Amino acid sequence: MKTARGRQREPRLIDLHPPHADMRADVLAGLAMMPKQLSPTYFYDEEGSTIFEEITRLDEYYLTRTEAEIMRDHLPEMAERIGPGAAVIEFGSGTGAKIQQLLGFLSQPVAAVTVEISRAHLETAAYRQALRFPHLEIIAVCADFTRPFQLPDINGARRNLVFFPGSTIGNFTPEHAGQLLGVMRSVAGSAGAVLIGVDLVKDTASLEAAYNDRKGVTATFNLNLLQRINRELGANFDTSAFRHQAIYNRTAQRIEMYLVSQSHQSVRLGDASFDFSPGERILTEYSHKYEVEGFSALASSAGLQTAQVWTDAGDRFAVFLLEPDTG
Ligand code: AVJ
Repeated sequence: MKTARGRQREPRLIDLHPPHADMRADVLAGLAMMPKQLSPTYFYDEEGSTIFEEITRLDEYYLTRTEAEIMRDHLPEMAERIGPGAAVIEFGSGTGAKIQQLLGFLSQPVAAVTVEISRAHLETAAYRQALRFPHLEIIAVCADFTRPFQLPDINGARRNLVFFPGSTIGNFTPEHAGQLLGVMRSVAGSAGAVLIGVDLVKDTASLEAAYNDRKGVTATFNLNLLQRINRELGANFDTSAFRHQAIYNRTAQRIEMYLVSQSHQSVRLGDASFDFSPGERILTEYSHKYEVEGFSALASSAGLQTAQVWTDAGDRFAVFLLEPDTG
């Protein structure tokens, strides 16, 4: 393919055949649990992704803009520490906007690799990146990044940089986050590095406001999960009979999001039916928060040392550069 900007490489798609996510089975299993729970990965259908974009622009939701501010202020220094010839590997492709910003500052990056379980999301992101960086090798890897996987050989890469922005790591319990950091360490390799965004512990009021915005966008985001289950699996949730709840659990250092049943009700999904008592909750998301030292300790337990940490002036959010232990 030729473009006005010069040679245009085709994105390379590598299918590692991840176990296909079975939403019906997961939802049935989650609703049969005590207490009931649903996985936050199912928030992001087209509707949910659009609502999430809206969340990132809310006054109360400081995370996205604070991380962007840290990146903006420190990208030259980050690029310096990362060095030339990096292959950047993003876990979860999102919109591709954040990796583009990073690539714009790196010295002679050789490849952009996006790892994503959903084939549909993967191809769009790879295409967009291909358009913006015609001299970069674009590789889309279809894999489940929560399990160890083998990266393809990347020609001319001096080091691998695993990039995991947005505090998505917060969705995992510390135990699972530690395992995921271990996967990142193995994908980075001994000469590699990990650049990761982490939301920090702060006062309860600010944290709870970020997940209980005045416009009710987060409530719509949470309730869309039930609407999606109705749309895609033919369930009959009455979304007006559930209320959004987000509370900060200070002991566990996490926001917990729930959908609270407002009445005694029964919901059908295929042959199964689920009873809800008034006040009964479905757990839909954990969003873990860390102290800088606590996250460094977790990374260290996964074989990653903290090379540098950048925070904003208000210490609301942190971006960590981690490097594998030597020896
Ligand atoms: C995308 C997981 C980082 O935990 O803040 C935003 C998702 N949930 N509002 C977060 C989310 C409710 C978000 N992450």
